[in-house]
Amino acid sequence: MNGSAVPPGRAAVITGIGSYLPPDVVTNDDLALRLDTSDAWIRTRTGIGRRHVVSPGTATSDLAVEAGARALESAGWDRVDAVVLATTTPDQPTPATAPQVASRLGLGTVAAFDVSAVCTGFLYGLATASGLIASGAAEQVLLVTADAFTTIIDPEDRGTAVIFGDGAGAVALRAGDADEPGAVGPLVLGSDGSLSHLIEVPGGGSRQRSSGKPVDPGDQFFKMLGRETYRHAVEHMTDASRTAVGRAGLEISDIDRLVAHQANARILEAVADRLEIPAGARLSNIEQVGNTGGASIPLLLAQATADGRLAAGHRVLLTAFGGGLSWGAATLVWPELRSV
Ligand code: UT7
Repeated sequence: MNGSAVPPGRAAVITGIGSYLPPDVVTNDDLALRLDTSDAWIRTRTGIGRRHVVSPGTATSDLAVEAGARALESAGWDRVDAVVLATTTPDQPTPATAPQVASRLGLGTVAAFDVSAVCTGFLYGLATASGLIASGAAEQVLLVTADAFTTIIDPEDRGTAVIFGDGAGAVALRAGDADEPGAVGPLVLGSDGSLSHLIEVPGGGSRQRSSGKPVDPGDQFFKMLGRETYRHAVEHMTDASRTAVGRAGLEISDIDRLVAHQANARILEAVADRLEIPAGARLSNIEQVGNTGGASIPLLLAQATADGRLAAGHRVLLTAFGGGLSWGAATLVWPELRSV
């Protein structure tokens, strides 16, 4: 990346979008064949009907490359200054997955690194990309969020196995003006590490490795205290949304579309109800894809752009919540984008 003089009012502007879902689909009935659950329970408690899952041998980078290629094509780009990959399921603990994604996309030796913010990954990734652009370090950034949660889910844990699916979404961001369509508005981000135990993979890190105790293979699985997490998700997405709308100088009534992290349909309804966002402005794809972690917001943005639920000129509110705990929100005016 090359630094340059930074004009005032410079912002990161979304100029391309893409997404990818692995082809294999698991329905609720498929899960009920091996778990003590049912289609009725899953639909009623989560709103999920099916989810896409990676096949054996497919990794996060494979999803990221597909989504990233589509975002580049949508933008009409063949080069960027940086690739940011937000993921909770990197291909391996070290090195970061982003450099392989950049290389496989033919982007050469550009800056490339991973961001770890679980289901808030897209918003933390937007903040990172915005910072690279605002500082003058980059003119064009590819932000990919890709997660293959089914690779870290305990297949016997009905509390998580029914919720998560795999997928990826990506946006191409260029330097532009803060007042043009696609410019990422003021970002609100937060975290609460005192509640890190609510969503975690306990093993595989320095804490466990330096303990000298025998490793429990179950510690490699993703664990979530669902009921407690639920409450925090509603509170933080609602509060962050209100703050982001206020910082942008807007009222909630100015929002045309709410695109929230697809954690659980009941959480989405609770957040939208508290914000008093009308039913027609609430976008969702959770019935078809489940909770795809950090990928859920750009995946929904890409799908809604393609099917017309989201159109140029719509004022969009994004909000997410996830492990860390972490949360965030931002607004932007949706730009004219080419769907690929
Ligand atoms: O994406 C990052 C952030 N993640 C979230 O925000 C997720 C937040 N949490 C949730 O989405 C929900 O808490 C879950 C979907 C995980 C669970 O739904 P819930 O309505 O909170 O259920 P619960 O955990 O309170 O459990 C209610 C009952 C329990 O049975 P008893 O104790 O009432 O007899 C559970 O054992 O439902 C039972 N249960 C199930 N039953 C059938 C839990 N999971 C299942 C299941 N199938 N898959």
